[in-house]
Amino acid sequence: MKLPSFENARVLVVGDVMLDRYWFGDVERISPEAPVPVLKVSRVEERPGGAANVARNIAALGAQATLLSVVGDDEAGHCLEKLLVGQGGVNASLHRDPGISTTVKLRAVARQQQLLRIDFETAPSHEVLNAKLAEFRIRLADADVVLLSDYGKGGLTHIAEMIRLARAQGKPVLVDPKGDDYARYQGATLLTPNRSEFREVAGGWKSNDELTAKAQQLRVELGLEALLVTRSEEGMTLFRAGDVYHEAAQAREVFDVSGAGDTVIATLAVMLASGADMAESVHVANRAGGIVVGKLGTAVVSRDELEGV
Ligand SMILES: Nc1ncnc2c1ncn2[C@@H]1O[C@H](COP(=O)(O)OP(=O)(O)OP(=O)(O)O)[C@@H](O)[C@H]1O
Ligand SMILES: [Mg+2]
Repeated sequence: MKLPSFENARVLVVGDVMLDRYWFGDVERISPEAPVPVLKVSRVEERPGGAANVARNIAALGAQATLLSVVGDDEAGHCLEKLLVGQGGVNASLHRDPGISTTVKLRAVARQQQLLRIDFETAPSHEVLNAKLAEFRIRLADADVVLLSDYGKGGLTHIAEMIRLARAQGKPVLVDPKGDDYARYQGATLLTPNRSEFREVAGGWKSNDELTAKAQQLRVELGLEALLVTRSEEGMTLFRAGDVYHEAAQAREVFDVSGAGDTVIATLAVMLASGADMAESVHVANRAGGIVVGKLGTAVVSRDELEGV
């Protein structure tokens, strides 16, 4: 497949970052303190999650990713920064908020079996969010496309203002949405809800015609150029004014579907920032989604893999 050059594509990612942490080990006994297993940890693994995973996917494609987000002034925040700027290849600007803890999802795993997940998260403070908005204004000038990755953790309080600023400069704005209040995404270029996110905001559907009617209604209401519903094993459908375009899922083998949505929106942003049109971008993004679900671990796709070499 012939792809445009990605080297000069500049994507500004703003959103909620998190650290996915795994404690792997063995359980050989029950605790004498309480009727719970004792996990003896032998290996720790850490991966960027949320908006950080989106940024890492952009960099893995060979494009320029700048990430604007908030972390706590703690060990997890430093760990995330190291993962991003080192091998991650991301230009990360992480504001440190001493009043919060970095969002961490910690899994305790014994022989493939998850025993427990522990979440740390707190919403960032207003001062830090204001500083972030100020930096957004400055960084916008150097971006071809803006990507807002909303994981509902409070890092995108100023999203409406960010969309307005970017659109005023004619920059496409892609949003990965969360929650049931989409009014704050008004005027974005493209939204990429998955099936359950779309159902939460628009209600269920029994046929493709009903899905189209609901998608087009939401698209018009929010003044979007396009709405892309990602549909897991059903592929994805792009809704534009007077146009519906469907791509069937590509995956041959499915190992790990988590993060597929991040890879999809990252690929879309890189394609659009490289001058591709919307339908071409969706085609390539669907291909990227099909590749990444066939992988364990890494959860990024390279340009070579996309080209099929
Ligand atoms: N089970 C699957 N089989 C084939 N392709 C898949 C599957 N799951 C995901 N994909 C591919 O990845 C794309 C995005 O997946 P999905 O709609 O599940 O996003 P998502 O729920 O936002 O993912 P996540 O939140 O885990 O990152 C799909 O449109 C499809 O191309
Ligand atoms: Mg998603």
